[in-house]
Order: sequence, then C-alpha cells, then structure tokens
Amino acid sequence: MYRLLETRLMKRSESGFLRELKITGKATDFFSNDYLGMAQDQDFHAEVLQAIQEDPTLIGGSTGSRLISGHSQVAFETEAFLARTHQTESALLFPSGYIANLSLFSCLPQKGETVIVDEYIHRSVHDGCMMSTATKWKFKHNNLQDLEDKLKRTQGICYVAIESLYSMEGDFAPLKEITNLTEKYGASLIVDEAHAFGVFGYGLVHRLGLQNNVFATLITYGKAMGSHGAAVLCKHIVKSYLINFGSPFIYSTAPTDLTWMQLKMGYQYILNHPSLADQLQQNIQFFRSQGLPILSAKESPIQALAVKNIEQLLQLRDVLLHKGLQTYAVFSPTVRLGQERLRICLHTFNTKEDIRLLASLIQENLSL
Ligand SMILES: Cc1ncc(COP(=O)(O)O)c(C=O)c1O
Repeated sequence: MYRLLETRLMKRSESGFLRELKITGKATDFFSNDYLGMAQDQDFHAEVLQAIQEDPTLIGGSTGSRLISGHSQVAFETEAFLARTHQTESALLFPSGYIANLSLFSCLPQKGETVIVDEYIHRSVHDGCMMSTATKWKFKHNNLQDLEDKLKRTQGICYVAIESLYSMEGDFAPLKEITNLTEKYGASLIVDEAHAFGVFGYGLVHRLGLQNNVFATLITYGKAMGSHGAAVLCKHIVKSYLINFGSPFIYSTAPTDLTWMQLKMGYQYILNHPSLADQLQQNIQFFRSQGLPILSAKESPIQALAVKNIEQLLQLRDVLLHKGLQTYAVFSPTVRLGQERLRICLHTFNTKEDIRLLASLIQENLSL
C-alpha cells in the first residue's frame, strides 16, 4: 500500500506539481487572502482579547454538534445579526466555507436534478456535488450564452453555482445578468462570495441589492476578515433544510463561541474602518499602473499574471522569493494545464516600495 502511495506521489513529483506544507516565512506578503490586513491587525486583536477577558467561556469547546450540545446564545445572536446586516431572511453559520459548500451541494440537489457550475468554481463545490446523486454540468467561465444553452437543456429542478469574484482568475461574475438568466429559467442561484466579502462591503450580492434574486449566498471569514468560519445567507426554509439534511453541518462539532464572537466583532471593525477597503483599492490601482501583463479585473485584490510557461513561472516565483517577496504560483490541477500563472494578492499593508520592487522584478524576469 505504501509503495502504491509512493508511486502516485512520485508521478506527481515528476510532473513538477508536488504539494508540500511550508511554514509561512517572513517575506513580504503578496500571496495570502488577508486582503484588509485584519489577521495581523493589533487593534482588532486587542478588541477580541478584551472580549475574551470579559468572558473567558468564549474559548471553551462547544462540546458537540450544533444539533446536540453545540448551539449557543452567541451562535443564535450572530446568525440573527448576519441576517439583519445582509438583509436576508436567515443565516446559518459553518466552521468553514469548505464545509458550507459541502453541505449545500451534497443535500440540495437530488437524483434527476441538475447543478450547473462555472467551470472555474471552487473545489469545495465540486466535492459537494460528488456527495450528491444529481447531475453536474459545467458552463464556460462567465459565458452567459453557454449558461443559457445549458439552462435550456435542463429539465426539472436546477441549481447554478458561481463565485462573485474568482479566486484564481481575479475576475467578477456578471452577477446581474446571471440572476436574470436563472430567473428566466426558474433555476436557483448560489453565489460564493469568499473573496468579495469585506473587499466590497458585505459582498456584491448585498452591494447590488440582489438578495431576493439569489437562492443562497456563501460568505467566508477566513479571507478579508482574517478570522475563520462561514455563513450561508438564505430563506428560513433553506436554513431549516440544511439543518435537517446537510451532513457536514450535522455531524461535526461546532466551533467555539469565540469564532462567532470574533466574526461579529469583525463586521463592526470593518464598518468602523472604511479606510481599509479604500487603501486596498489604492494599492491595487498602484500595482496595475506598473504596466504588467495582468489577466484580472481592475478592482480585484487578486491579480493573475500571464507567463510563457511553467519554467518561467517557477523562475519568477523563486527570484521574487529570493528578494523577499512571496507570491503564489498556480499549477494544474488548480488551473487547467497550460494556464499556469503567478497569483499576486494585494493588501492594505503592502507599501508602494514593495509594489514597485515586485513590478520591476517581474518586468526584468519576464523579458529574459
Ligand atoms: C471561492 C471559495 N469558496 C470557498 C472556499 C472555502 O472557504 P474556507 O477557506 O473558509 O473553507 C474558498 C477558500 O479557498 C474559496 O476560495
């Protein structure tokens, strides 16, 4: 058995795509999802610490799944707060976005029903679909015509899954147009806002006032909020359905109350510090003004850089790291073979000097 595993790992290693865990070093961060710098914001940490001091029970284990002993007043109040804030009927908390997507896509679509996903949707959606007996189709990335062609061919219940801001492309879904299409064909739209939340207020569904046009919205707190956890925003009936049929929700110990308290405090912190999102946009625009071959959208904190081939990508990543700048090389199977790219994430805390250095090193190396 071990030999079999070794053979498989060797194969991956030979293809150059072996994954390994690396402790985050001291290099300048152009790769994490900490877009607003909240994971390292000492003022925010001080507020959370004070809450813990006032109520140390926050850090105690939840003692069980939400359906047994793990539900609490803090969880209840946080969900009510989220529904109020996002102006949705209801909200359900999850330990992570991955678990939330597993729950949604494993239990909602049934045999004989269809899920149509954008071809670049996050892995957690695919994994959720694998736990379901429904049929899954992919539509071409952000391609309204292809989505409509697929919608026309479905029979019966149909779900459509998209991200509002794509994590590897750094581009936006045409949200309004997609809601028009899902409404036209009576499909239920699920929008993953993992990367848009916090960068664009409470997310793009909220910003565009589309809450009533969307079946469910996923918000995650491990990225711009620098914390952990996730929430699905939906109608009461959908929440009740997830509580009854969503295995990953049902059969897992709830996180501590601190997780919920911290995310509630995170909302207040973001609200009190609008300059964070402004600073982030200034840094994105400064980066984009450097004239690099960028594949991503104007306002996206994720900026993907086109490279000639894998050799150039590896060399570029290593040269940057050697100069103290950490970026992320994206390989297959995360993106398609031949579409490998350098992923650069911008943050509030990146300085102009860091961005200038990054851009000039990239320019030098791309021309080699
Ligand atoms: C689009 C998208 N959805 C869901 C997730 C999963 O969220 P979490 O990290 O909270 O499990 C991620 C994380 O990478 C993501 O990028």
